[in-house]
Amino acid sequence: MTLSSIRLGVNVDHVATLRNARGGAHPDPLAAALLALESGADSITVHLREDRRHIRDADVVAMRKALSAPINLEMAATPEMTEFAKGIRPHAACLVPERRAEVTTEGGLDAVGLEAELAPVVAALRSVGTRVSLFLDPELAQVETAARLGAGAVELHTGTYCEAAPGPARDRERQRLIEAARRVAALGLECHAGHGLDYTTAAEMAAVPEIIELNIGHFLMGQAVFDGLGACIRRMKTIMTEARS
Ligand code: PXP
Repeated sequence: MTLSSIRLGVNVDHVATLRNARGGAHPDPLAAALLALESGADSITVHLREDRRHIRDADVVAMRKALSAPINLEMAATPEMTEFAKGIRPHAACLVPERRAEVTTEGGLDAVGLEAELAPVVAALRSVGTRVSLFLDPELAQVETAARLGAGAVELHTGTYCEAAPGPARDRERQRLIEAARRVAALGLECHAGHGLDYTTAAEMAAVPEIIELNIGHFLMGQAVFDGLGACIRRMKTIMTEARS
């Protein structure tokens, strides 16, 4: 297959976490989004969680007004979030599982088990022109359900792969991701990947031709403490682009 370029979506949730720690306005996730785009990001990802622990409604509204680049809204498939997303009409929405007690998104969405509940949410988002992706573990049955539901994309959960020790365990997880990515592409959906990626694992994922977008947050924000956000995003984009070729 011809190799399309690889897109980088930068998740700015952690900028909001830092802001909320002191209750003020600094650091501003919108300013971080603008800097990310200036530094080579192709899109901005925000997760509006039900408990609003980091990104708030007003952040998403402000980004929708100020950014011309695509916004990818991560959200739970609830009536409240669906109504909010319909009002915002983001370029993309990524449906994720959400449990209040979790530290971050743990595991992919069970599209197989939740197919009936997800169908009206996917349809509602599509009706306002939003491309829907489902955040899934690299399992063929999950991917096939996403296609049946009319999702435009699948984002493969790379958490298990990133947490595996380098060597055979990680190689096995990478192979599962490659096989799932092939199935996503064969079904005619865009294949994205994300969660836990760093410079090394992002390069390995960027080398998979079927994967056309990586969404990365925590590593970039952590590394920005040492190197600056713009420098980290430029480095990440260069590493991904080089791995692609
Ligand atoms: N993609 C999805 C669907 C996510 O839920 C997250 C975490 O919010 C990410 C990507 C980014 O993960 P990380 O912050 O570990 O890079």
